[in-house]
Amino acid sequence: MTSSILVTGGAGYIGSHTCLCLLETGYSVIVIDNLSNSSIESLNRVQNITGKPLDFIQGDVRDETLLNEIFKKYSIDAVIHFAGLKSVGESIVKPIEYYDNNLHNTLTLCRAMTRARIKKLVFSSSATVYGDPKGKAANEQFPVGGITNPYGTSKLMLEQILTDIYRSDNEWNIALLRYFNPVGAHASGLIGEDPNGIPNNLMPYISQVAVGLRPYLSVYGNDYSTPDGTGVRDYIHVMDLAKGHVAALKWLTTNPGIRAINLGTGVGYSVLDILHAFEKACGKSLPYKIVERRAGDVAICYSDSSLAKELLGWQAQYNLDDMCKDAWHWQVNNPKGYKG
Ligand code: NAD
Ligand code: UD1
Repeated sequence: MTSSILVTGGAGYIGSHTCLCLLETGYSVIVIDNLSNSSIESLNRVQNITGKPLDFIQGDVRDETLLNEIFKKYSIDAVIHFAGLKSVGESIVKPIEYYDNNLHNTLTLCRAMTRARIKKLVFSSSATVYGDPKGKAANEQFPVGGITNPYGTSKLMLEQILTDIYRSDNEWNIALLRYFNPVGAHASGLIGEDPNGIPNNLMPYISQVAVGLRPYLSVYGNDYSTPDGTGVRDYIHVMDLAKGHVAALKWLTTNPGIRAINLGTGVGYSVLDILHAFEKACGKSLPYKIVERRAGDVAICYSDSSLAKELLGWQAQYNLDDMCKDAWHWQVNNPKGYKG
């Protein structure tokens, strides 16, 4: 029998790629998204690429009546919960909105799931919970905390809340997936990352420089203790990440409990590594300027993702060239994202 998965925030960047993988794997997919940071066009394209339909409900995960209706209407086996706000800088300016959305929506979802007796949940956490891993590969045993912004704090609080929910009722099966830096796009170039306004993150910013929307990249500091002085991160192709969710879902069906699991490649690249790899992908040199460090940035953050391999049988397949090639393909085909 086909399993049905409710995907909250499924119209967004990681959600849309995960919906695609779920459909291709044979799941039926129901999406709830309030479209506050996405476009329905992403899901139209997912259905075109896969040739398979999904059900879309426009609504807010904080609307418990709506969730109860969804759980009554569909026979849902598990939930993948992407919905939330994700900008670090914006969270410092709007902490109330961030805590309200990220905490309130997860609590509402868990209450509705409990009522519907659905207790399998894949949750979007983040490498941000590690704070500063101080140059070491972060594994799941690393201490968490030391976070300086409400977005990151909300993720850590939610990990704790979900752990408490599990402790109160060990019928729950929960995967806390700690993503490192998701980048890239589906190889079709039809779906990808579509940031609102000026991108905060490195790869979408470089893509916009490459396509001529921005004059140059500002490199935030070249005096870190890293090989070239610029910040080092663990970039992971969004399709690898999407497949990690499918692997986590399969794992959940046979493994009760709650586990935090890193999803990264285990390899760190610097800002200049990314810039040069992107230049290779787009076939032109890209202007950049070294500017001040960005407040709150750490020098180095990369994963030890061996637990994902051990538990889920998952490991990243795509390399940096694939990430840049696919990001560029998406950007050049959709210079203004889903807007045209
Ligand atoms: P995104 O903004 O593209 O997707 C989130 C989706 O949730 C959007 O479509 C938005 O419209 C929707 N949404 C927000 N609040 C909602 C609500 N209350 N009800 C219904 N829908 C709502 O973000 P993304 O990059 O796809 O990230 C997905 C998840 O992964 C988020 O929880 C994010 O914090 C987490 N995460 C992202 C990254 C990253 O770099 N992209 C890294 C680590 C963790
Ligand atoms: C950021 C968030 C983090 C979140 C992650 C995933 C901050 C402080 N952290 O991580 O919480 O989980 O996104 O989306 O925002 N850089 C430049 N120029 C730019 C943009 C970035 O030099 O225009 C550098 C940064 O200094 C960093 C690297 O590129 O060294 C990656 O930055 P970014 O893509 O924003 O990701 P993180 O800072 O790792």
